[in-house]
Amino acid sequence: MSLENELLLLIPRMVHSSIVSYEALVCFIVFMAILALWLAPGGLAWAVSMSKTRAIPGPPGFPLTGLLTVFTGLSPHRVLANLAHTFKAIPLMAFSVGFTRFVISSQPDTAKEILNSSAFADRPVKESAYELLFHRAMGFAPYGEYWRNLRRISATHLFSPKRIAGFEGFRREIGLKMVEEFKALMVESGGDVEVKKLLHFGSLNNVMMTVFGKSYEFKENGDGFELEKLVSEGYELLGTFNWSDHFPLLGWLDLQGVRKRCRSLVSKVNVFVGKIIEEHRMKRVGETLTDKETIGDFVDVLLDLENNEKLSDSDMIAVLWEMIFRGTDTVAILLEWILARMVLHPEIQLKAQAEIDIVVGTSRLVSDSDIPNLPYLQAIVKECLRVHPPGPLLSWARLAIHDVYVGDNFVPAGTTAMVNMWAITHDEKVWSEPKMFKPERFIDEEVSIMGSNLKLAPFGSGRRVCPGKAMGLATVHLWLALLLQSFKWVPSDKAGVDLSEHLKMSMEMKSPLICRVVPTYPRVA
Ligand code: HEM
Repeated sequence: MSLENELLLLIPRMVHSSIVSYEALVCFIVFMAILALWLAPGGLAWAVSMSKTRAIPGPPGFPLTGLLTVFTGLSPHRVLANLAHTFKAIPLMAFSVGFTRFVISSQPDTAKEILNSSAFADRPVKESAYELLFHRAMGFAPYGEYWRNLRRISATHLFSPKRIAGFEGFRREIGLKMVEEFKALMVESGGDVEVKKLLHFGSLNNVMMTVFGKSYEFKENGDGFELEKLVSEGYELLGTFNWSDHFPLLGWLDLQGVRKRCRSLVSKVNVFVGKIIEEHRMKRVGETLTDKETIGDFVDVLLDLENNEKLSDSDMIAVLWEMIFRGTDTVAILLEWILARMVLHPEIQLKAQAEIDIVVGTSRLVSDSDIPNLPYLQAIVKECLRVHPPGPLLSWARLAIHDVYVGDNFVPAGTTAMVNMWAITHDEKVWSEPKMFKPERFIDEEVSIMGSNLKLAPFGSGRRVCPGKAMGLATVHLWLALLLQSFKWVPSDKAGVDLSEHLKMSMEMKSPLICRVVPTYPRVA
């Protein structure tokens, strides 16, 4: 081959190899960029936020997805607590889930700073919450006039001490009905009962009575059954980890079908709740409302609002529906954990029953007015809220409205902020023997659980603290006292008590509690 020809052949080879090396160079740069983004403290979402200040420590997680798998697991609160230790980031840890920036605090001081700061008075609205119209309800409404109005109305007409006391009749009636149902179930099944379903139905009815002035039968195929299905579907949708929330480009694909299911649920809820509102309107025609207190439920209160306070029908449905959601599962789940502990610790159960016997006697059933005289029973509830908080990550996170400092750490606007309450209540530096179930610790030391002391704040703290905390506690105390007075709770022969957790919308028992109940009331002389 002539030299000329050889040169002609060499040129394409050179061009080709330079393309290859150019491609390799581009790949290398992209790879290094991804590596740098990936390895940045807190992962991808923090790396792209280009914060110029000192980085908040935290795990990079997987490339692109960050800590996504933590939230699809059973106990994210435990994994996040371990990571905070590993990264020496207990006061504040940064992490990413897809393109969402998170910070999480596992220490009382920083937790207080976050929850009590007006900078974190908003909540991130998930797609499911938005589709279910919850951005118009109190829990997800943006911090502002509309939200303030809802809080004021519900504080006065639903959650005030007077209203809570006024609902005692319903609470007691539903509690007694539950006792009867437990007895019937025990006979039917030969001793063993699965407690969750009954507690859930009782709790749902209790909220229905206070909010809608209506309760349902404990039997299948009625309106109550239909409502239970709607509520369960809503729980599942709100508890589902939705990819669209963290990967905006996937939003329109609705890969998990969350949007479709939400829309179908909303139309059913509109019919169900719309009918109840209409019934209230009909009832009022021709009635003279001399004393609004006698009308009773929260639907009437909302219908009575005037002028600029008045809510549209769709806003009213969102507000009422949210109360059902928030009030039902937290109470039922907490009671299930408490009863599981009662089965596991017979000596504690016996001590609580002895206290009830001394204070109430054996000839009548317990009532609300006895609860202040039952400190050990209250200590059991507190200890359960410490060991098994229904919202270990305080359920619904907060959102930074504007740039803010938490301690020395710069947190940009739009960051989702969480508090790992479970990590705080299981920290040896905060609680002695944190893994032990010891109600006595609350007899020795007075600890407020209403939000002022972040050592134990199961209802959150600050402006968006749970407004239903006193109502929730009144229900749990009364029903626990009734259930302990009426039965001895003992292990089933077939299944032990499994304390494994599954964090969905609230922290549930992974294996529902099955135990035996032995009736003890009325006492046989
Ligand atoms: C054991 C019972 C309960 C527990 C453990 C619980 C827990 C919580 C927690 C941790 C929060 C978030 C607080 C924060 O961000 O600082 C919350 C908010 C909320 N809870 Fe509860 N809750 C309970 C019962 C109830 C009940 C009975 C109702 C109503 C019937 C209710 C209605 C709400 C509402 C509407 C919010 C949102 C408040 C807002 O964003 O302004 N909760 N709850």
